[in-house]
Amino acid sequence: MLNKKSVDDINVNGKRVLVRCDFNVPLQDGKITDENRLVAALPTIKKLIADGGKVILCSHLGKPKGEPKPELSLAPVAARLTELLGQEVKFAADANVVGENAKAAVAAMNNGDVILLENTRYRAEETKNGEEFSKELASLCDVFVNDAFGTAHRAHCSNVGVTQYVDTAVVGYLMQKEIDFLGNAVNNPERPFVAILGGAKVSSKISVIENLLEKVDTLIIGGGMAYTFMAGLGEEVGVSLLEEDYKEYAVNMLKKAEEKGVKLLIPIDTVIADSFSNDANTKVVERGGILPGWEGLDIGPKTRELFADAIKGAKTVVWNGPMGAFEMPTFAEGTIAIAKAMADIDATTIIGGGDSAAAANQLGFGDKMTHISTGGGASLEFLEGKELPGVAAANDK
Ligand code: 3PG
Repeated sequence: MLNKKSVDDINVNGKRVLVRCDFNVPLQDGKITDENRLVAALPTIKKLIADGGKVILCSHLGKPKGEPKPELSLAPVAARLTELLGQEVKFAADANVVGENAKAAVAAMNNGDVILLENTRYRAEETKNGEEFSKELASLCDVFVNDAFGTAHRAHCSNVGVTQYVDTAVVGYLMQKEIDFLGNAVNNPERPFVAILGGAKVSSKISVIENLLEKVDTLIIGGGMAYTFMAGLGEEVGVSLLEEDYKEYAVNMLKKAEEKGVKLLIPIDTVIADSFSNDANTKVVERGGILPGWEGLDIGPKTRELFADAIKGAKTVVWNGPMGAFEMPTFAEGTIAIAKAMADIDATTIIGGGDSAAAANQLGFGDKMTHISTGGGASLEFLEGKELPGVAAANDK
């Protein structure tokens, strides 16, 4: 259980409440293409409105690198939040984020009003956790609420620095829910506990593999990172994704799993292609049979069955990273098989954000999971067993 003060522990009536959300949503031509992060933020916002707070929302969006970039303005988010909440979310357009517009908008607020500040990364200090901008943000509010789980692995002004200049810094419902689900799954799982890791690189998941090997009963490895394991075992991987420098590490992980009595599964067959294209020529080959010049782009049918069987018996499943190049339908079967196996079981099923969350939602399995994290990098760092600075900065209970 998260031992931080939350919005349930404070009285916000008549107070200015700065709420750090993660509204870093994908945009295409000014339109939000995935609004899960907005929907996930609503419970906290609604609670603060109902309690009579003056709700000042803030977030980053993309990487404007410290200067105003109109295409990364949060204006479309204010418009969509207005619709989702059924009440106006006034957008405080301000190139400085905390400029004259924002100050005037805050000064004019009534209890229950909501405003949204401009992209916090329009300010160069934001990502450096600078003192000046942290103080400016704090000057807008009486109370600070951090509900940005997706950003909790960053130590920036708007989620960490600001807490030094306010008396009260608590977490919101989304933050609480994320930490409770992920924390329980990893630290207190109902067994058997199966973790599935995919995605392109072993190097980006080293600490996750190490931490999970201490906790799981079965670790499944698929996706691009599996080819480094195969290459480490001396198998031909053609032109598949490969991290030469991590081959030895991969083999050591296989040994470590064996010593610990953890079942570590890697693919036993592979869908290979002669180019990285949905229309490529494809074949299914057994382990060790990847052809020179061809690349593995998905797990094969026998592997899908093997992995699905391992998932079937689980009571807790955590999944991070797709099994193949799922954005091309030709190579989506492996990722679909994992999502389907998780959707079909009576267990706590958790998707650790990023690509696998997008995959589960796009493939129509989203509502079948116990919890889909809104954090990509944040959930990964959580699975590594790290303390997230955004969480640590909130007041303890
Ligand atoms: C995310 O999308 O993972 C978070 O919003 C953090 O964004 P960042 O990687 O740009 O810091």
